[in-house]
Amino acid sequence: MQVPLFVVEESEASASCSAAGVSPLRESPVLACQDNLAFMEALPDGQFKLIVTSPPYNIGKDYESKTSLKAWLESQKQVIAECVRLLHPQGSICWQVGNYVRKGEIIPLDVVLYPVFAELGLRLRNRIVWHFGHGLHCAKRLSGRYETINWWTLSDDYTWNLDAIRVPSKYPGKRHFKGPNIGKLSGNPKGKNPSDVWTFPNVKNNHPEKTVHPCQFPVELVERLVLAMTEEGDAVFDPYMGVGSSIIAALKQGRAAWGCDLVPEYVETAQDRVRQLRAGTLRTRPMNKPVYDPNLPNGGH
Ligand SMILES: C[S@@+](CC[C@H](N)C(=O)[O-])C[C@H]1O[C@@H](n2cnc3c(N)ncnc32)[C@H](O)[C@@H]1O
Repeated sequence: MQVPLFVVEESEASASCSAAGVSPLRESPVLACQDNLAFMEALPDGQFKLIVTSPPYNIGKDYESKTSLKAWLESQKQVIAECVRLLHPQGSICWQVGNYVRKGEIIPLDVVLYPVFAELGLRLRNRIVWHFGHGLHCAKRLSGRYETINWWTLSDDYTWNLDAIRVPSKYPGKRHFKGPNIGKLSGNPKGKNPSDVWTFPNVKNNHPEKTVHPCQFPVELVERLVLAMTEEGDAVFDPYMGVGSSIIAALKQGRAAWGCDLVPEYVETAQDRVRQLRAGTLRTRPMNKPVYDPNLPNGGH
């Protein structure tokens, strides 16, 4: 079933964004209920500064049929090649995946996908470990509590704003105690590099962003990528959009947002989340909120 493109009028978008306290939209979001290859085929080369996504992992979720790893890889090759065509010369692709599990054996999907990106000429900048607290409890191996985001660029000249994603230093007032810089601050007063290990709660039932989707991105995770890898007004695309978490992250930060998904219910939920964002009623977890720590009073909140 085809749901028509969802395009919001510019004037409506700007007015409601300022009411909601989010950056005004440079362009209306484009959300399509369509197969991603068909959607991308119609788009011109080089338009997206960031393509960020989490494809189906082939593990038998509601929205996927479990296929062989070989067939999954073949379909990923086609989609990734199209994404590379649509990527801006200074752009980034962030591909978030976990493990494929076969008869108790785990196969890390980013390892399987590495040659696909490398053969298309992309360069791997980071393999970001996304650590989270909740998931299945395994009996015969350690319970999995991370997935990865592989960050690829087309060239060495890529958009990168480290200052936009710095996090508080552990010892902000620490100074050099010897050498030519004695007495000066030893760290960056703007905060420290967030490193390549990121802890964000995954979206389970008690998360404020939970919708009908079984496998959502936390918005704050995508916001960090958007802030670091794009400028205001740049275009962000998610070819496996789900309920539009990447769309929300892009719009919150004043970027143009494009996405598509096959399932009408997910696209409708994404549309609804955009409307709620505009109205100032969408609940998202703030980017710098500490993660709940049972050892601290009130969990550290
Ligand atoms: C892991 S989920 C992504 C969830 C998303 N990150 C979010 O926050 O909602 C993968 C999504 O890909 C969609 N999908 C699967 N095959 C697709 C295709 N060929 N074209 C577009 N979307 C597809 C599924 O319906 C599912 O919602």
